[in-house]
Amino acid sequence: MCGIVGILGTHEVAPLILEALKRLEYRGYDSAGIATLQDGHLDRRRAVGKLINLSDRLVHEPLPGKAGIGHTRWATHGAPTEANAHPHQTGPVAVVHNGIIENYRGLRAELSGSNFESETDTETVAHLCARFMAQGMDPRAAAVATIARLEGAFALCFLFHGEEDLIIAARKGSPLAIGHGEGEMFVGSDAIALAPMTEKITYLDEGDYAFVTRAGAEVFAADGTAVTRPLARIERGAAVIDKAGYKHFMAKEIHEQPVVFAEAMARYAPGNLPVFPEALDFTRFDRVVLVACGTGYYSCLTAKYWFEQVAGLPCEVDVASEFRYREPPVAPRTLALFVSQSGETADTLAALRYMRGRADLVASLVNVGTSSIARESDVALAILAGIEVSVASTKAYVNQLGVLAMLALHASHQRGAMTAPQIAAELDALRHVPDQMRQVLALEPEIARIARGLAEAKSALFLGRGVMYATALEAALKLKELSYIHAEAYASGELKHGPIALIDRSLPVLVIAPHDGLFDKTVSNMQEVMARGGPVTLITDSAGAAIASEGTRAVLVLPLASRLTAPMLYAIPAQLLAYHTAIAKGTDVDQPRNLAKSVTVE
Ligand code: F6R
Repeated sequence: MCGIVGILGTHEVAPLILEALKRLEYRGYDSAGIATLQDGHLDRRRAVGKLINLSDRLVHEPLPGKAGIGHTRWATHGAPTEANAHPHQTGPVAVVHNGIIENYRGLRAELSGSNFESETDTETVAHLCARFMAQGMDPRAAAVATIARLEGAFALCFLFHGEEDLIIAARKGSPLAIGHGEGEMFVGSDAIALAPMTEKITYLDEGDYAFVTRAGAEVFAADGTAVTRPLARIERGAAVIDKAGYKHFMAKEIHEQPVVFAEAMARYAPGNLPVFPEALDFTRFDRVVLVACGTGYYSCLTAKYWFEQVAGLPCEVDVASEFRYREPPVAPRTLALFVSQSGETADTLAALRYMRGRADLVASLVNVGTSSIARESDVALAILAGIEVSVASTKAYVNQLGVLAMLALHASHQRGAMTAPQIAAELDALRHVPDQMRQVLALEPEIARIARGLAEAKSALFLGRGVMYATALEAALKLKELSYIHAEAYASGELKHGPIALIDRSLPVLVIAPHDGLFDKTVSNMQEVMARGGPVTLITDSAGAAIASEGTRAVLVLPLASRLTAPMLYAIPAQLLAYHTAIAKGTDVDQPRNLAKSVTVE
């Protein structure tokens, strides 16, 4: 992962780089560093932990200079120590890197005699480049020769001693954008980092490298041919990132859900039928393959029930890290659909590339319209959640669900599985979701009380059936990533096949069960838990609560929902439970340990 930035400015760049790194901190926050050139001399400051530590350090040890590069790290090779923090500097070269250099061991062996100061793969890049320069190459030739030797995934920025007007940038497998200013140039992992400084962006393509000077950028494809990449405008709103009075981005993003969900509805279902690009013609497909990671995978798992039940369309779902290496045969008339908030997740992107040329259509659901996954898809559907800053996904998940529900209805209509009036009725129900979400959000004090109890637990179990099984999985993921409490989810019918052995008075069990066709079955499983002393919190609706509250520890009563609307509504207590458990435990809500928002390494 990691975030990188480079600036050739007209003023001091360290404060600007720091600002840009703040906007990239979602990519990693184990350590950070900046290198600048002053009177041609490279100097750097690095600090372990959040960016604030680097910022403090710069107060006491400022870093002058009008050219610089910066980095915020998510550790892959080597612990988060200062020695392993970027920029890595060797002689006349400083380098920042996002990705993994897979052949670094071999290169390091070749570079025997060089004095390595860190355990990172990145330092090899600096040494290799310095070695080429020692052999007489100029910085441009040395950087190009270095890049040619690298295997794996990388976005790189090089800064050189004595070169006040040069940053060399390279991209293979990890995204990189070049920003154009007035007599200034910028490089960044994404457009958001550069948003306050420029609106004009050029995205490097796979394998590209660029010589960036204050006059502009010369871009070359991997084979060294000079190329022109289009100039894009940064998405409106990319510059606006604040907590809007909330204590955490996560709280803000949870409370934004009614609004962003309504926006997605307005885009894809402005009338009685869903509206999607023509290429998404479901009379052309006999099956859909959905691929994603993490929370996105759980929205796909939910959609599997919808595509199958609502549209009668066979549907396969896989996590991208498995799918990409499984070499699955692809039947004719297959729609491949990739779901990614960031649009940069390395495994999902690799899975997408596997399906290019194999599937009839490669489509994606993304929150970042300019992302690699969006750009490499035949059709990219925006989920319209707005920037999601909190590392734990909330509003993007709910909007992924919303767009997938509308897509399933679209498929159903085109395949003749449901009539137009039936579809209009389902869309009406979806249009009520924002109001119902507000009712669920009003349960926050009650949920916070339950969460305070949950914070005492060492482990928790979530149960659900049918489409609620996917919700249970997402609830468990949210709880573990935010509160560091071990949590598992089971399809409630699976309970008696093993996990019931875990049940005792110390294991909170959260049962997610709207009063649907499977309610009685789930409640039977809940009874089996209570019979063994397991403390149960039942998350249901008024009909379910009237039947099954007895013997439970707590009951949360949500509005009545359908199979299409329940996943969005029941996601909210899951999010709030995780949020308030994290608050009770004092963990870092927006930036949980060991995580990063954009997972650009596999
Ligand atoms: C969990 C979470 C992650 C992401 C996963 C995929 O709260 O956010 O599990 O869902 O890393 O990321 P994207 O959707 O950007 O591909």
